[in-house]
Amino acid sequence: MAQKKVLVTGATGQQGGAVVDALRSDATAEYELYGMTRDADSDAAAALAKRGVQVVEANMNDRASLDAAVEGMDYVFLVTTFFEEGPEMETRQGTRMVDACVAADVEYLVYSSVAGADRAPLAHFESKRAVEEYITASGLEWTFVRPVFFMQNFEWQADDIERGTLAMPLAEDVSLAVVDVADIGRLVATAFDDPIRWAGETVELAGDELTLEGFAAAFADALGHDVAAVHLDVDDYRADAGDELADMYQWFNDQGYDVDVPALSARTGIDYTTFAAYVDAHWASRPAPASA
Ligand SMILES: NC(=O)c1ccc[n+]([C@@H]2O[C@H](COP(=O)([O-])OP(=O)(O)OC[C@H]3O[C@@H](n4cnc5c(N)ncnc54)[C@H](OP(=O)(O)O)[C@@H]3O)[C@@H](O)[C@H]2O)c1
Repeated sequence: MAQKKVLVTGATGQQGGAVVDALRSDATAEYELYGMTRDADSDAAAALAKRGVQVVEANMNDRASLDAAVEGMDYVFLVTTFFEEGPEMETRQGTRMVDACVAADVEYLVYSSVAGADRAPLAHFESKRAVEEYITASGLEWTFVRPVFFMQNFEWQADDIERGTLAMPLAEDVSLAVVDVADIGRLVATAFDDPIRWAGETVELAGDELTLEGFAAAFADALGHDVAAVHLDVDDYRADAGDELADMYQWFNDQGYDVDVPALSARTGIDYTTFAAYVDAHWASRPAPASA
């Protein structure tokens, strides 16, 4: 089989990086990998090149750069972000990338959206739903991968967790579904290995589901000391984190993700990482925290 040329957007980031890792370690197929970044001179771009990825400089705000990046590609992995320029720009960047894929006759596009994109009234979910709808109408062959909350998000509060406190605006008895970003890469690689099987499918993706107490207990096990679960009030959190993230936690508390992990494993043939396994792999060997 001829090598497929795959363009991975967000290749210097979490999801694109996981897709690169999974495609590089894929035993069943060989790919010629291209990774998109806005800055080919960055350390992250150099690290990509070291991993055998051809670095492509392009910006989703610049259509001409996208046309050049997509030219000659068979498959594209697309991830969009609202973090830098907001949800409206996220949609515009995503649809611009889709237009470039259509113009270049890309054979197959996998888009990473977010679980609940079609039912959560949150701007950074609706922005991804709009990209999905644009893709559906584009004539491209597509698969949507919709991940839940990343296990890696806990890194943002690593110091507090290591000092013994896990504080989040999750209500008592509410479980939050989580996924290891590495598993997003594994699922995307599964799709690229068999586009005929996966074209037209939407896959909501999770590996585990725990209450705040469950997350705290997993950290306590791995770190070897108590970690207290502190339920923050969503409106207190709103003052620090802003409306968009506070509204997301309110949605987690009221409705939330809805992924049946055993059914997902059966459907995709992947054993998803449990939270305990993630914590064991990434947190257990950390040095003891500096004194509180
Ligand atoms: N965190 C969660 O729990 C979670 C769950 C589900 C979905 N999501 C979604 O995941 C997305 C973020 O994914 P991530 O965490 O993998 O991202 P990330 O690690 O923050 O990296 C962002 C990537 O996007 C690239 N990028 C940003 N703006 C660009 C532009 N204008 N043109 C081209 N490339 C651009 C960056 O490349 P350079 O900087 O190298 O140019 C970088 O590789 C968000 O939309 C978020 O809503 C997150």
